[in-house]
Amino acid sequence: MQNFNFYNPTRIVFGADTIAALSDLVPPTARVLILFGGASAEKTGTLTEVRKALGQRAVQEFGGIEPNPSFETLMRAVAQVRSEKIDFLLAVGGGSVIDGTKFVAAAAHHQGDPWDIMLTGGASVSGALPFGTVLTLPATGSEMNNGSVITHKASHTKLPFSSAHVYPQFSVLDPTKTYTLPVKQVANGVVDAFVHIVEQYLTYPVQALPQDRFAEGLLQTLVEIAPQVLAEPTDYASRSNLMWTATLALNGLIGAGVPQDWATHMIGHELTALYDIDHARTLAIVLPALLHVQRDSKRAKLLQYGQRVWGISSGSDDARIDAAIAATRTFFESVGIPTRLSAYGLGAQAINDVLAQLEAHGMTALGEHGDVNLARSRTILETAL
Ligand code: NZQ
Ligand code: ZN
Repeated sequence: MQNFNFYNPTRIVFGADTIAALSDLVPPTARVLILFGGASAEKTGTLTEVRKALGQRAVQEFGGIEPNPSFETLMRAVAQVRSEKIDFLLAVGGGSVIDGTKFVAAAAHHQGDPWDIMLTGGASVSGALPFGTVLTLPATGSEMNNGSVITHKASHTKLPFSSAHVYPQFSVLDPTKTYTLPVKQVANGVVDAFVHIVEQYLTYPVQALPQDRFAEGLLQTLVEIAPQVLAEPTDYASRSNLMWTATLALNGLIGAGVPQDWATHMIGHELTALYDIDHARTLAIVLPALLHVQRDSKRAKLLQYGQRVWGISSGSDDARIDAAIAATRTFFESVGIPTRLSAYGLGAQAINDVLAQLEAHGMTALGEHGDVNLARSRTILETAL
């Protein structure tokens, strides 16, 4: 196991009817800005519950944070924070709203051009407004981590940043708030969480036994609950298991002390920035192809993954690896997410365009060994056609 420094200050309040806890979680004298996305939070009644729980506090609202939140939109929220002397942010939504809120929290504190936060990957963040979240879409893990992904729409640039200053102070996780999700978003959540686990687990062995077993348990949980979570929107048991699994998938615990990959995510971000494909869908396209191309350096872990997650134990090593990759692809397809570029209407020209973006953004040495250079990314995308 490698050395690590594990820190996570986010308080989790989990369960049905927990939004009322905001009355204790948000400081009583705070000047609060509620940030949300499109119409869903109002339509589902979640915003009404949030407003009620905040009681007599000074509360303002900022709506319209779009999926894959844009710098352009978020800078309007920063202006409101500054002019209205807001001192506490409350995100109500999915990963996009939470990521957007992290950016607003950091940008409101930032001297100079806030896009620097993205260009430095968060290194230039020296402080941030405090904030909490009410999660409505289990997927990204943003509710319990310090990462955020923001898109500069004008230049089709989607970049991640992270900073110790942007952990949520608390997150309210009420699984009943996911009952209204379109089935497509639930499927996206299952696949995003699955790939988060794989990015931290499927690299090379470092004798990190708890992390491996924990990751395998989370993957198996997703496989086990996926049919129910898609078929029965109001099944509390499966929705609560999905919500907690997605949080645990990317709250730092399984990634502590182990090598991490993240090439699938970085290539996927370019597909979203160029073609507006949902985040999870880009991962479903890239991951099976990447596992195939990286099968030699990932060999030991691919065999372990095949055996422990999918029960693949017979055949030659190569046959078992093929079967493990095929099982992964079949799982994504089984939740209704196509895994080929061609299924999204993309072909060879798209590969050139994605490579140009990767180069422009310095994504030329990806993966746990830094060996996913542009040539390797091309092979991965060609394998994904
Ligand atoms: O905009 P509204 O009307 O609210 O509708 C949203 C949105 O259209 C809808 N929705 C959310 N909760 C709902 C609901 N509809 C009905 N009922 C509810 N309870 O769902 C749509 C998608 O929401 P979004 O927040 O965009 O989805 P998700 O949570 O998948 O977030 C994706 C973003 O997170 C980033 C992605 O890159 C992408 O920008 N990620 C953030 C990470 C992190 N911070 O750690 C890691 C991830 O890898 C990911 O990159
Ligand atoms: Zn993701």
